Amino acid sequence: MRKPVSRILIINDEKLILKEFIKGLNNAAKSIENPLGLVFSGVTTAQEALHSIQQDGDIQAVIADDTLYTLRNHGQKARDLQMTALELVQKISHFRPELNIYILIAQEQEGEVVDALFSETVDGYFYREERDYRGMYRILNAQLQEKTHTPFYDQLKKYVLMAKDAWHTPGHSSGDSLRDSPWVGDFYEFIGEHIFRADLSVSVPLLDSLMEPTGVIAEAQKIAAKAFGSQRTYFATNGTSTANKVIFQTLLAPGDKLILDRNCHKSIHHGVVLSGAHPVYLNSSVNKKFHIYGPVSKKTLFEAIDEHNDAQALILTSCTYDGLRYDLPPIIQAAHARGIKVIIDEAWYGFARFHPDFRPTALEAGADYATQSTHKVLSAFSQSSMIHVNDPDFNEHLFRENFNMHTSTSPQYSMIASLDVARKQIVLEGYKLLSRTLELANELRAQINATGVFQVLELSELLSDEVKHDNILLDPTKVTIDISRCGLTIEELIKELFERFNIQVEKSTFNTLTLLLTIGTTRSKVSRLYDALMRIARENRSLRRFYQTVEIPVFTELGYLPRDAFYCNGELTPLLNEEEKINLNLSGRICADQITPYPPGIPVLVPGQIISQEIIHYIVSMLRSQKRIEIHGIVYDGYLPCLRLITATEEKKLIRLN
Ligand SMILES: Cc1ncc(COP(=O)(O)O)c(C=O)c1O
Repeated sequence: MRKPVSRILIINDEKLILKEFIKGLNNAAKSIENPLGLVFSGVTTAQEALHSIQQDGDIQAVIADDTLYTLRNHGQKARDLQMTALELVQKISHFRPELNIYILIAQEQEGEVVDALFSETVDGYFYREERDYRGMYRILNAQLQEKTHTPFYDQLKKYVLMAKDAWHTPGHSSGDSLRDSPWVGDFYEFIGEHIFRADLSVSVPLLDSLMEPTGVIAEAQKIAAKAFGSQRTYFATNGTSTANKVIFQTLLAPGDKLILDRNCHKSIHHGVVLSGAHPVYLNSSVNKKFHIYGPVSKKTLFEAIDEHNDAQALILTSCTYDGLRYDLPPIIQAAHARGIKVIIDEAWYGFARFHPDFRPTALEAGADYATQSTHKVLSAFSQSSMIHVNDPDFNEHLFRENFNMHTSTSPQYSMIASLDVARKQIVLEGYKLLSRTLELANELRAQINATGVFQVLELSELLSDEVKHDNILLDPTKVTIDISRCGLTIEELIKELFERFNIQVEKSTFNTLTLLLTIGTTRSKVSRLYDALMRIARENRSLRRFYQTVEIPVFTELGYLPRDAFYCNGELTPLLNEEEKINLNLSGRICADQITPYPPGIPVLVPGQIISQEIIHYIVSMLRSQKRIEIHGIVYDGYLPCLRLITATEEKKLIRLN
């Protein structure tokens, strides 16, 4: 493993003093143990400091003089104020909140400076005249060590190295059941020894408990909370799918109103059923040319917040799968003004705090809860997510009960360790890696456009007219490409990329392809993709006719609460009759299941929803489509596709909403 470099930037306007500090601190670093590779360098102006912080991703901490001056003219004694420590600290922490900041003060100004900086995130003060370089070095090193500390991962590794005899679960007993097997020994070899050794049980007290953390898991979550700017952070090992459900069940009692965007992830619709909430669905914007579902318009949102000011919570997805980010601050403000809690599904946006181009994060914008699939965009194992909480009225006991309701009593410890490690990485090298990812995303976007055939969709092309003026932003690491001029259908293109060029993409619509860049994207991968697209473009195929998939119909009203409808036995009713004609008797009936064509994974029906003719036509057209589309929720009675509908007798027992 390469040794890390941790650059510490000193900002002092007096060149001689600056030189002394750099020399003294570097000497201290050389003469004391320095595992984190601390090196000290300096600048004399605030401007240079901000420039260095922007350019150099290896900077981990800053030591700034309490006040910075510039000599007015060479040789003259008069000095102009460059920037106060307060302004500088605010600028630095706005740009890179993960940096440690220290202030050099003169004894006589101590009270004044400390008072001014009281509300800012300053990690410590040093007296300028003391010049205790070894003491300073030790403090800086120790505080940086705290960030590099991964309490759970460290303990897991330590425990594995203790090589205790296991008289507990899991049954593979550190892999011993597999290792010498002539039948399954290959699995042990393929997956690797340490995965098995680190797969331990809640019976090991040294590893704490995810369901009642008081030791290394609690410590790891506390460090994560500091890193992500939350009051509390919880590690979830069942993905954001479960994280969303836990929050719903904490905030919503059966019948409580929840405002939500219709194109939210299916886990949110499931959460509505589990919590018994009364959902107020908001139609999201649709880009009809590319079949991309975007944010709900601000107008719709503000109207819903006004009309349903009795709602308990509002949940929005930001950014969306395609990288569209809401202008969250005014929306959250409007919701809070009416006492509505705000949950933001940041499944695709867990890295955002660590580069200014992606901020504000949901929490920075004022959200009460944010759920993040750390595994989707950072270095955690699949299913590893985080729940961040900033709700001033947070009911920890209730949350814990619901968290435990959804958490396996045998969580996978490698996943918890990976969350600990993913946090460490994004804090220490996130800015640097995200700067590189952004650079690669911009290069890739330009290269794709240079093919002359494939075209990257920019924000203005992704948004539909109704949300054009809603201050929506685009996360450029999600790259959506118009493929309609390449002469291949989307299925053919995906197959060509996979079979001929070894490339697997993220997702598609009938005329677009979406690629995801992450902190793991390499320049080689970018060039291989560019090469593939350029070759396909140069093959000059004649244009293909694109058969647009039918547009998802608008959401109809709810007849009953989704939970009430879901728990009915219902009856299976065919969508088509014996002559393969559409069964028009379904219109006006109530669906008991969630019916979701995948892709795109947005339900056309939720439990309790009134079925319209338009919806039946849509589902049948999907079933008849030549493109293979899964439709989750359809039941086959023999060869007949059916919906599970509420019976007339069941309806009589339920409370009608509409
Ligand atoms: C917006 C959104 N929320 C939540 C999820 C669920 O996340 P996870 O896969 O971590 O369960 C997804 C998954 O694709 C998603 O797109």
